[in-house]
Amino acid sequence: MPPKFPLTSIKFDGDRLEIVNQLLLPHSTEFIEINTIEDAHDAIKSMKIRGAPAIASLAALAFASHLSRALKASADFLSSPDTIRAHVEPILAYLDTARPTAVNLSAAMQRLTTTLEASIVAGKDARTICTDLVAEAHKVADEDIGRNKKMAQWGGDWLVDRNKHNGGTGTKLNVLTVCNTGSLATSVRTSSLRTALGLITYLHESGKLATAYYTQTTPYHQGSRLTALELQTLEISSVMICDTMVGSLFQHHNIHAVVVGADRITKNGDTANKIGTYNAAVIAARHKIPFVVVAPISTVDVAITDGSGIPIEQRPPIEACLVRGAVYPSDGESKQATVMITPPGLKGIYNPSFDVTPAELITAIVTEKGVATRRPGELIFDLSSVV
Ligand code: MRU
Repeated sequence: MPPKFPLTSIKFDGDRLEIVNQLLLPHSTEFIEINTIEDAHDAIKSMKIRGAPAIASLAALAFASHLSRALKASADFLSSPDTIRAHVEPILAYLDTARPTAVNLSAAMQRLTTTLEASIVAGKDARTICTDLVAEAHKVADEDIGRNKKMAQWGGDWLVDRNKHNGGTGTKLNVLTVCNTGSLATSVRTSSLRTALGLITYLHESGKLATAYYTQTTPYHQGSRLTALELQTLEISSVMICDTMVGSLFQHHNIHAVVVGADRITKNGDTANKIGTYNAAVIAARHKIPFVVVAPISTVDVAITDGSGIPIEQRPPIEACLVRGAVYPSDGESKQATVMITPPGLKGIYNPSFDVTPAELITAIVTEKGVATRRPGELIFDLSSVV
């Protein structure tokens, strides 16, 4: 049995910043120290940490640590507001390049740029500008706790009511999710409810969950490696399916809802999420199964009108050819292993990390402010009540 996982993706004690290396989960729990901006950029880009809120949080904390160290050492760039700007802006721009699709990262970096400019305009001295930036960066990382709890409750209660009013069968719900939206994907550093997995946990804790189904989510296996570990740790009744089995699941089992997270939601409700989410939405529509997106307000990007404007990250082709895991010999310690499943040197590999589910396939979008649904006959959302 793997060790009981501590349900946290980032550890930070005000000084030492560490992340759990998600490339090695669930077979080993190894924490890596993040000492520099480059360490943070590499950890995000190589997906040692992943999940929209978590990557924004790590970038913010790495930035805060960098500035805290500079304050202690009275670094040269603290000599004037202009020298701080010249030092800080390229760092924020660099962190922003680590992964393109999840808006949380660029929104966090933008927010820190706004803080920088506001402190400069307010005529603050160099050290105070720096202290303001550290405080704002910590806020970015700490905001998840309350909002995740609210999202889970709004979404969970809405689903239970909907099922009741639509004459749904049973009092306990079967829910399918995609990817990993639990503690490993979010930025909270204490155990708490998360986004889509938060809703599932809320249903479980209120006695309203029958079974949580989840896709393996190839090629990175966020489902079979990470969601499996979280659901096992939380002792939630769950069943893993391969990505190709969604249609079969809907044909043969009574699934009450599909619940997913999001990396970016545009003004009209189109939603980018992990590759395979769109497939699940199309098949859910065919089976009239409600499709629910759960995400913090910071995931909504009102500056983009529709999903065609979302930058979709293409991952290195080799990642679609490999499976990471561990070998468990009958007589010895388990060993991490990466196995190639394709012929070596294979050419022609398509590996987008995300897809976009059009608003017309989404039944509800849940944020910490509430639940938005489409008006009858409309194909897009008016998200103004939930942002
Ligand atoms: O490539 P990943 O693992 O970072 O993708 C993560 C997802 O797509 C999640 O569903 C999304 O970030 C929401 S997490 C609360």
